[in-house]
Amino acid sequence: MAKLWGGRFTKDTNKLVDEFTASISFDQKLAFEDIQGSLAHVQMLGECDIITTDEAETIQAGLEKILEKLKNGEVEFLVEHEDIHMNLENLLIEEIGPVAGKLHTGRSRNDQVATDMHLYLRNKTKTIIELIEKAQGAIIGQAKDNIETILPGYTHLQRAQPVSFAHHILAYFWMLERDKERLEDSLKRINILPLGAGALAGTTFPIDRTRVAELLEFDSVYPNSMDAVSDRDFILEFLSTASILMVHLSRLSEELVIWSSQEFQFIELDDSFCTGSSIMPQKKNPDVPELLRGKTGRVFGDLVGLLTVLKGLPLAYNKDLQEDKEGMFDTVDTLEGSLTLLAPMLETMTVNHKKMRSAVTHDYSNATDIADYLATKGLPFRQAHEVIGKIVLHAIENGKYLLDLEMEEYKKFSTLFEEDVYDYLEPEHVVGARKSEGGTAPDQIKQQLELAEGKL
Ligand code: ARG
Repeated sequence: MAKLWGGRFTKDTNKLVDEFTASISFDQKLAFEDIQGSLAHVQMLGECDIITTDEAETIQAGLEKILEKLKNGEVEFLVEHEDIHMNLENLLIEEIGPVAGKLHTGRSRNDQVATDMHLYLRNKTKTIIELIEKAQGAIIGQAKDNIETILPGYTHLQRAQPVSFAHHILAYFWMLERDKERLEDSLKRINILPLGAGALAGTTFPIDRTRVAELLEFDSVYPNSMDAVSDRDFILEFLSTASILMVHLSRLSEELVIWSSQEFQFIELDDSFCTGSSIMPQKKNPDVPELLRGKTGRVFGDLVGLLTVLKGLPLAYNKDLQEDKEGMFDTVDTLEGSLTLLAPMLETMTVNHKKMRSAVTHDYSNATDIADYLATKGLPFRQAHEVIGKIVLHAIENGKYLLDLEMEEYKKFSTLFEEDVYDYLEPEHVVGARKSEGGTAPDQIKQQLELAEGKL
C-alpha cells in the first residue's frame, strides 16, 4: 500500500519492516489525544490564515466524524499505515478527500506524537491522583476504627515497642501523600506544549503556538523546538514516581501477607479478595497483595527500560523514542489496577484486635518503658538500659514476661523500683506515654488523623 511519505521511494517497504516498525498495535491508545491535538492545530491554522476557514472547518468536521466512529468501534487500523498518526490521516482522506492533506501543514509527527503523550499522561496523572485519594480514604477509615488497637511495632522484624494499629497503617497514608505530591508537581512539566516544534527546527509557517496551547489547556510551550520533540523527561518522571508508589504498595502488601499468615493472624482479608488452592482445600491465599507486590517488578522494568532507551540518544527525534509508549501504558494500567483494588481490599479487611493485643502481652516490647521509668527516677539512661537488659535476661531464663516478675525480683536489680512500675508496663500505658509530636499516643493520632483528613 502506498505510503503518505512514499514520494522519494522507488520500492514498497518490506513487509517485515512494516511489521517491525509499526506502532499501531499499541499507540492506538492515543487515538483520542491525537484527534484532540489535530482539532486544535487545524483551528489555529485557520485562524492564522495558513489554510482557509472553509478548509479548517471541513477538516474539523472530518475529524469529528472519525471521533464518532472511534467511539462506536467502527474504525479499523492497519499495520501498513504504521502508527496512529498515519492511520488517522488516512481515515481523514477517506472521509473528506485530498483537503485532509492540509492538516499536517506546519506540523510533524515528531511534535504531534510528543503532544499526544503529554495529553495522555496529563489525563492519566489526574486519574491516578484520584485513585490514590481513594486508597488514602480507606486507610483513614481503618485508622479511625483502630486508634485504641495495640499491636507490636517492629524493628528488624523483632518486636520493638507497642504501637497503635491506626498509627502503623497511617504511615502508609503519608507515603501515598508524598506520591500524590510528586504527581501533582509533575503536572507542571507535563503541561507544556511541544506542538509547533515541527520535525525539530520549527516551521516556516506563521503558526501561533500559544493559541494551540490555550486551546489544549497547556500552561506554556516548549521554548526550544529540539527539546520539544526529544524530551521524554516527563515520562521518566512519571515512571519514577510510579516506581516509588509501587514500592509503597509493595511494602504495605508484604505486611498484609505477613499479618494474614497463620503465624500472625493480625488481620483477615475478606473472602472476596482472596483465592483458594486447586489442591489444598483449606487454603485461603492473599493473592491480591501478593500480586500487588509482584507487579512492582514490571513498573521498575518500565522505568529502567525507558532510561536505557534515552541514554545516549543524540538530538533530536530518533525512532528509538517510539519505545517510550508500551512501558508507560503498562505502568498506567498497573497503577490503575493496583490502586483500584487497594481501597476495597483495605475497607473489607478485618482487624483481629485480640491477636494483636495478645502479641503485645507476650513479649518484652515494654522494656524501653521501664528503662525510661528508672531514668525518670534519676538513673542515667545508659545505666537504666543495662539494668533492664539484665532483668529481661532474668525473665527469659525464668520463662516470664516483665509483668509477671515479683516486686522482690525487681528490687534485686534496682532499689528504685516501686509498685507503680506495673502500671508503666501495661501496653496502654506504654502506647499512651508516647505523646511526643508524631508519636503513637491516642491524642497524637487524633491530631494526625485531622491533618490527614485535611489532605483529602
Ligand atoms: N510512531 C512514531 C513514534 O511513536 C511517531 C513519530 C514518527 N516520526 C518519525 N520521524 N518517524 O515515535
